[in-house]
Amino acid sequence: MVAVAVDRRFIFWFGLLLIFLCFEVTFQQIQPLNSTKERESLLQLRASLGLRTKEWPRKPDPCLIWDGITCQNGRVVGINISGFRRTRIGRRNPQFSVDALVNFTLLHTFNASNFYLPGTIPDFFGLRLNSLRVLDLRSCSIVNAIPNTIGNLTSLTALYLSDNNLTGTVPDSLGQLSALSVLDLSGNSFTGSIPESFGFLKNLSSLDLSANFFSGAIPSGIGTLSRLQYLNLSGNALNSLPAKLGGLTSLVDLDLSENSFSGGVFPDLRGLGNLKRMILGNSMLNGQLPADLFTVSLQLQTVVLRKNNLTGSLPDELWSLPRLTFVDVSSNSFSGLLPNSSSDAVGSTVAVLNISHNKFYGGLTPVLRRFRFVDLSNNYYEGKVLDFMHNVSIDSNCLQNATNQKSTVVCTSFYADRGLTFDNYGRPNTTKTAGKSNKTKIILAAVLGGLGLLALLVLLLVLLLLYTRKRGNSSPRGNGVGPAPAGASPPPPGVSVNLANAGDSFTYHQLLQATGDFNDANLIKHGHTGDLFNGVLENGVPVVIKRIDMRSTKKDAYLLELDFFNKVSHQRFVPLLGHCLENENEKFLVYKYMPKGDLSNCLFFKNTTSEDGTLQSLDWITRLKIATGAADAISYLHHECIPPIVHRDIQASSILLDDKYEVRLGSLSEACAQEGDTHQSKITRFLRLPQSSEQGASGSSTPICAYDVYCFGKVLLELVTGKLGISASSEGDLKDWLDHILPCISMYDKELVTKIVDPSMVVDEDFLEEVWAIAIVARSCLNPKPSRRPPMRYVLKALENPLKVVREESSSSARLKATSSRGSWNATLFGSWRQSSSDVTAVPTASGTKLEGASSLKLSATSSSSSRRRHSNEICPEPSFRLHDVERLEHE
Ligand SMILES: *[C@@H]1O[C@H](CO)[C@@H](O)[C@H](O)[C@H]1NC(C)=O
Ligand SMILES: *[C@@H]1O[C@H](CO)[C@@H](O)[C@H](O)[C@H]1NC(C)=O
Ligand SMILES: *[C@@H]1O[C@H](CO)[C@@H](O)[C@H](O)[C@H]1NC(C)=O
Ligand SMILES: *[C@@H]1O[C@H](CO)[C@@H](O)[C@H](O)[C@H]1NC(C)=O
Ligand SMILES: *[C@@H]1O[C@H](CO)[C@@H](O)[C@H](O)[C@H]1NC(C)=O
Ligand SMILES: *[C@@H]1O[C@H](CO)[C@@H](O)[C@H](O)[C@H]1NC(C)=O
Ligand SMILES: *[C@@H]1O[C@H](CO)[C@@H](O)[C@H](O)[C@H]1NC(C)=O
Ligand SMILES: *[C@@H]1O[C@H](CO)[C@@H](O)[C@H](O)[C@H]1NC(C)=O
Ligand SMILES: *[C@@H]1O[C@H](CO)[C@@H](O)[C@H](O)[C@H]1NC(C)=O
Repeated sequence: MVAVAVDRRFIFWFGLLLIFLCFEVTFQQIQPLNSTKERESLLQLRASLGLRTKEWPRKPDPCLIWDGITCQNGRVVGINISGFRRTRIGRRNPQFSVDALVNFTLLHTFNASNFYLPGTIPDFFGLRLNSLRVLDLRSCSIVNAIPNTIGNLTSLTALYLSDNNLTGTVPDSLGQLSALSVLDLSGNSFTGSIPESFGFLKNLSSLDLSANFFSGAIPSGIGTLSRLQYLNLSGNALNSLPAKLGGLTSLVDLDLSENSFSGGVFPDLRGLGNLKRMILGNSMLNGQLPADLFTVSLQLQTVVLRKNNLTGSLPDELWSLPRLTFVDVSSNSFSGLLPNSSSDAVGSTVAVLNISHNKFYGGLTPVLRRFRFVDLSNNYYEGKVLDFMHNVSIDSNCLQNATNQKSTVVCTSFYADRGLTFDNYGRPNTTKTAGKSNKTKIILAAVLGGLGLLALLVLLLVLLLLYTRKRGNSSPRGNGVGPAPAGASPPPPGVSVNLANAGDSFTYHQLLQATGDFNDANLIKHGHTGDLFNGVLENGVPVVIKRIDMRSTKKDAYLLELDFFNKVSHQRFVPLLGHCLENENEKFLVYKYMPKGDLSNCLFFKNTTSEDGTLQSLDWITRLKIATGAADAISYLHHECIPPIVHRDIQASSILLDDKYEVRLGSLSEACAQEGDTHQSKITRFLRLPQSSEQGASGSSTPICAYDVYCFGKVLLELVTGKLGISASSEGDLKDWLDHILPCISMYDKELVTKIVDPSMVVDEDFLEEVWAIAIVARSCLNPKPSRRPPMRYVLKALENPLKVVREESSSSARLKATSSRGSWNATLFGSWRQSSSDVTAVPTASGTKLEGASSLKLSATSSSSSRRRHSNEICPEPSFRLHDVERLEHE
């Protein structure tokens, strides 16, 4: 009791002392208000506006205590009532009554934004508030015209009147505010023309007149404001552009959209060398684009020309602008071909391209690669859909092998009008409409004959395999993973699946309600096994619903997926909440909603804290966490499932993330049991060899675990380099890129890796070593020979201990000797590592010798011991992380 009492007393006195000290400090910094006139005027203001004593209390000194009052030398210089609320009485008769302001002769800032001031800006503002520099009256419900006298506030540097109900014409006198740097009149109902006098506002850096009813021409003087960085005239009824805007040499943002420049001449933007955003959408522009439009500024990020009547082709320079992130030229009459240049910027920017609703034609080319979202619907593109294209709308073109295309008649006549022949090969509707010709019959016969022969061969093979597998069964070797029992393979199509672990059964009606009738607004993406929609169940639980169109996807894909969930329940996989199988043509799977989406859309994200919406990227720790989580999931499939399950669709978009960036692997409809056991008999390996060597390219057809490892290697590289879309690209597209990247991953040179590390990621020295290690792991996963790729569980170990990959412990070579001599199990394992050194010639290094390239694939050498290593290729040290692992397994 005594102790408690003492404590309380102590706290009381201590607190008092603190409060006292605080006052002392404040007193020293700010003088109290020393003008009685200003004190009384503040009280007048409080009364006339009906302010609460909460913010402006009766007793203490305004300079010290009142909210929003700024003083200098005992005088009021700033009043900020922004966002204040009125007393109940004040609310009854709110008025724009601020007469007392005239008594503050030193006032330079008045901020009443978001404070309700229904009324007219008083005349005395311009005549009496001579020292005013900043006037902020945004969103105050002010009415009527701006008084002429405002033009007398010649000290004004910032005038904000946006989002009010101001009307009438803007007084010419505003042109006298020669110090003005910011003028914002947007979101009012001003009429008439923009005053010519604005051309005199030479110090202006931001001019926003958007969302008004200004009409007539844009004064030519505006085109000469050399300090202007932001010009927004969008949403008016302006009908004529100045002949030249070239004086706007500082301009960064130009928004002239939503006007009616029917004159037809596209503005001359030469000289705008700092332009980043060119927004000229929906403004009745017609004619062709100036040939040099996109040479104006290399800074261009945003180009919006949508919904005009523009014709001709897009100048080629557009495609090579280095910083493009958003291009929308949709709904014009543009025509022409895509340039056939191979862009080496593989998904390097998170860019959006919308060229829909035009008359573009010809084949699709790799220039589209750098864009992450592409809408080229409603054009006349022909030929193949390129395989790197994922987030892409291609409806209503003339493409081969795609649904919802224009009819052959329309396409043929479009191409004929241009003196071109339409390449009609492979279009689905032609085979439907045309009857079977003799030619097809012959081809069919040939194909069937060939198939028969193949079937015979396959039968022989299967028999052989079964035989060798049986023998393999009896062998005691095997790392705890049994061979595939005959009954464990996925269900054959048509066989119904046990729905016990497949969650709830939903009715179609429930799903319609959850997704607003599968409203487009809820569409997340068109996945390759079905469309994904956001939805909310009746109980408020957010879900993701996959709609599988049975007419366009493999019939048994959803059964395979249900079967997967039936067999595998593990927290590393996206939880299946339910299903709806009642419709014949559409099946639905309902998953738990993943707040962070998937890796492909969250590696970069909009920075919400900065105004300009720049992109930020995930930090290294989060990236490593994601890599480890994904490896954990795959390792579970490969090593803990019997028989081993191959995911077959490992890529960034399959890696779903919960709110804590924990991996929940998805895209499970391709998963299936690995063929044969993990220790392939010599005969299967021999037979598989021709396929395996091109594993990366077409490997998804071959369900072997090493294929997943390869794909995971691509995901790792994506995390290291930040190049989105690598893991989704096909081998052909990636080859050049890999040839360029892999030589930068060397066991002997940590610094080399900095050449390829994602520039948007801040990596300090500590992390660089980890990044380096992960790059090395990625490279080993990308070994062209499937049999030489590390098993997933070792990849996981490496990711969990990245530094051990590159920092060899002194004792490891001793342990190596001790362990490698034990048992055939590790001997086999290490044998594969020894062999791997001979694979490396497949990857040419830029400068290094063959040997150096070779060693970079191995996981353990350090630079200090590199010279010893270099001439000891036979010894070929094993990676240290493996050693621990082997030891642990042996103790178990
Ligand atoms: C402030 O100015 C107004 C208008 O000039 C005047 O009526 C009022 O008395 C002044 N207040 C004080 C405290 O001087
Ligand atoms: C103005 O006052 C509001 C409300 O007290 C405050 O939130 C805001 O930070 C102030 N703004 C400035 C620029 O002082
Ligand atoms: C006025 O106050 C608002 C709200 O605090 C603030 O956002 C705004 O920047 C202020 N205006 C100026 C010109 O500082
Ligand atoms: C305000 O400016 C006008 C010109 O726009 C001038 O005629 C008038 O004398 C000025 N009034 C004051 C009080 O400065
Ligand atoms: C022009 O604006 C800048 C701020 O953008 C300001 O510092 C400068 O004093 C202004 N110049 C004149 C002449 O008012
Ligand atoms: C221009 O103003 C409009 C309406 O006020 C706004 O929606 C648009 O984002 C602005 N443009 C830019 C480039 O800031
Ligand atoms: C592209 O533009 C068209 C029309 O301007 C629009 O309907 C469509 O939604 C846009 N596509 C994307 C992906 O935003
Ligand atoms: C682009 O060029 C490549 C080879 O140079 C060629 O194979 C391809 O057909 C061309 N594509 C188009 C659309 O012209
Ligand atoms: C079109 O698709 C079918 C099967 O979906 C495929 O066999 C054929 O090769 C494809 N044709 C072209 C030109 O890609």
